Amino acid sequence: MITNTATRYGSLARVLHWTIAVLIIGAMILGQIGIRTEPTADNIGFLTTVFSLHKTIGVTVLALAVIRVIWALSQPRPVPLHPDRRVETFAAETAHWVLYAALFILPLSGWVMHAAEDGFAPIWWPFGQSLPFVPKSESWAATAGMVHWAAGVTLGVTLAAHIAGAVKHALVDRDSTLSRMWRGTEAGDPARAGGHVAAFVASAVIWVGVLGLTLVSFGMPGGGTQAQTAGGGEWTPVETDLAFTVQQLGSASTGHFEAVTSDISYDPDSGTGAVTVTIDMTSVTMGSVTDQAKGGDFFDVATHPVAVFEAAIARVDGADHTADGTLTLTGSSVPVTMPFTLMIEDDTAQMSGAVTLDRRDFGIGASYDDESSVGFTVEVAVELTATR
Ligand code: HEM
Ligand code: HEM
Repeated sequence: MITNTATRYGSLARVLHWTIAVLIIGAMILGQIGIRTEPTADNIGFLTTVFSLHKTIGVTVLALAVIRVIWALSQPRPVPLHPDRRVETFAAETAHWVLYAALFILPLSGWVMHAAEDGFAPIWWPFGQSLPFVPKSESWAATAGMVHWAAGVTLGVTLAAHIAGAVKHALVDRDSTLSRMWRGTEAGDPARAGGHVAAFVASAVIWVGVLGLTLVSFGMPGGGTQAQTAGGGEWTPVETDLAFTVQQLGSASTGHFEAVTSDISYDPDSGTGAVTVTIDMTSVTMGSVTDQAKGGDFFDVATHPVAVFEAAIARVDGADHTADGTLTLTGSSVPVTMPFTLMIEDDTAQMSGAVTLDRRDFGIGASYDDESSVGFTVEVAVELTATR
């Protein structure tokens, strides 16, 4: 039976419980592996996969959690098996509420962190690299990261107690608690309803305490950290579009990099500054030829997952500037000068630049040594909006 009764978990509640359990424990393990792996040139590809998988699973958990809660609200909750053990029943119910909330707080805080930092490791769902209402902002990313961490610890502790409880019921009490969730066994006295408001309140107190302490200790987004950057020459990119166009079988074909981070300093008075752009090469999209673009003949992202452009910024005249530096791409470092225009209005900067590169300088497409299928020149266009 798909539905619950007062003494039984229906199949849908059980499938959702165990699917989410596997996914969330997987996400925690991947998160731990991710933060414990030092990012080096050798393992950045591995790390990108770990975090992409972590994020993709996390967003899946959020979707399943919505379904689970809607379903749970439409169903009777099976009664506690030992309503006379009041403390134990209260503790178990409190843990259930804490876990329900974790199913939302963890994915949402992770997603906000991801959307705010425009960083590596895209989510593999075809949506959600950015979120409406979430600016590209280091302070947002840092705060969401702290919430994510604190919520992860809360989840870990609660889950340990939850699993220990399940094991105790199976091995010590030898009752039907676990088999009621695992196999849908019928158990309990339907006259002894559970569902104490006090347990719900206790879980809310736990979450408000954990999240409140985190925010008070580390600051709200846009709080303390912003004061340090205001007035200085530091700019935070809020939107970056990095596109490249190449002639393919005689017609122009354009690709994009979805995950680009930039670190920009610029002093409007002197018109000078510096920029470091880091491109996650695995985030390239090029329509139907995305896989070829990533492959060994072209960007070879498995060997060279990251490209970096490091340059000094200088004003030429008015809005006209140049970024003069080095582009390291597919293992080759080549001097590149990119002219660009820069418009600054209040605390928002809009830059727009383009440069023509020759793919042979980077050894890209070496096996296509004439222009019959892929042209030599590559037009690169950058549009970037940053705020101070
Ligand atoms: C190996 C891991 C797990 C085991 C052995 C386990 C075991 C159980 C058992 C036996 C129940 C039924 C309790 C009862 O009838 O009173 C239950 C309920 C529940 N579990 Fe788990 N669980 C595990 C993982 C998780 C995870 C990862 C989560 C979510 C983060 C979770 C969330 C819940 C919730 C919210 C309930 C209450 C369901 C309801 O009554 O609506 N569990 N679990
Ligand atoms: C089921 C949901 C999730 C769980 C249980 C979970 C758990 C964790 C854990 C335990 C860590 C390592 C501890 C730490 O934060 O320092 C972590 C890190 C991280 N998670 Fe999640 N996560 C979830 C969903 C997500 C989602 C949906 C995203 C993004 C879309 C995300 C992004 C991240 C990132 C970027 C880190 C690295 C943080 C850092 O470098 O400090 N997580 N997560």
